[in-house]
Amino acid sequence: MNNTAKTVLITGCSSGIGRDTAKLFQENGWSVAATMRTPADEQELNQLENVICLRLDVNDIKSIESAVQTTIETFGHIDVLVNNAGYALMGAFETLDSQQIQQQFETNVFGLMEVCRVVLPHLRSRNSGTLVNVASMVGRFPLPLYSIYNASKFAVEGFTETLIYELENFNIKVKLIEPGATNTHFFGRSSDRDNGTGISAYDDYTKKVFDVMDSIGPSGSDSRDIAKEIWRATTDGSNKLRYAAGSDAKAFLLARRLLPDRLFNRTIKISLTPWALNTVGRLFYKPQAE
Ligand SMILES: NC(=O)c1ccc[n+]([C@@H]2O[C@H](COP(=O)([O-])OP(=O)(O)OC[C@H]3O[C@@H](n4cnc5c(N)ncnc54)[C@H](OP(=O)(O)O)[C@@H]3O)[C@@H](O)[C@H]2O)c1
Repeated sequence: MNNTAKTVLITGCSSGIGRDTAKLFQENGWSVAATMRTPADEQELNQLENVICLRLDVNDIKSIESAVQTTIETFGHIDVLVNNAGYALMGAFETLDSQQIQQQFETNVFGLMEVCRVVLPHLRSRNSGTLVNVASMVGRFPLPLYSIYNASKFAVEGFTETLIYELENFNIKVKLIEPGATNTHFFGRSSDRDNGTGISAYDDYTKKVFDVMDSIGPSGSDSRDIAKEIWRATTDGSNKLRYAAGSDAKAFLLARRLLPDRLFNRTIKISLTPWALNTVGRLFYKPQAE
């Protein structure tokens, strides 16, 4: 194993953005701790030079401590932490039960914080490093039926931005990645859409919105493009905090800055109609093959 190269530890590398980020850093000569919940299933990343696949479930503190310790023992140090693991709880708020809501925060917020808690003493002791948290464009504006996911990503945004003040004293850079819709398992196996309460009053609305969102997901950005943005955030040497990733994220975040709330909310409502998707949406979302 290469002890002189820079080292990145990434969470959620079993698929999607985390997986492509692991590959991109490896291709660029970095040592990579590609962590995931079930490394025993991994077939590809563990074949790559200077990549170790370690078990890390952000809800299991022992697995976090063990993965961080093994990474330091194997590569000598960690330069960059990429907190990428996450999933989306979707549905009208009233239809989600409290266990689902707590679990969303356990993973997207408290789990991410626990990984920071374990890695930061190491970065601080070296007086250098970069913390990259993968939030979302919906960490800065809400989408319908994502109330809890939005809230979790708003929390990641607030948490991360605050850390700038305390970590700059230790020469640790802080970065937020804000992807738009990206073609990963996010809209499929990684989403929790269970109607935990059985309330049916929202069924028609939910179906209408999910139909549109489900057609956006597979037409969204390639996860390799989001990985490139993570690479850029890590290596550009700047103190820039936010990196919108994907053309939809860039456009919506610009609109969020320019428009008053009511107008912005109307824009979102219109954007989530089949008509908008088939017209303006084509600027951002590649039409799917029939
Ligand atoms: N795709 C999008 O449109 C989009 C947009 C904005 C932001 N994001 C964010 O991007 C990040 C990556 O998502 P993705 O799009 O690449 O989706 P993905 O392909 O579903 O990947 C999600 C990853 O998170 C892992 N994960 C879930 N819960 C975990 C836990 N408790 N501990 C450790 N790992 C866990 C999954 O592991 P398992 O295989 O074990 O489930 C998987 O590796 C997420 O934070 C997501 O919120 C995605």
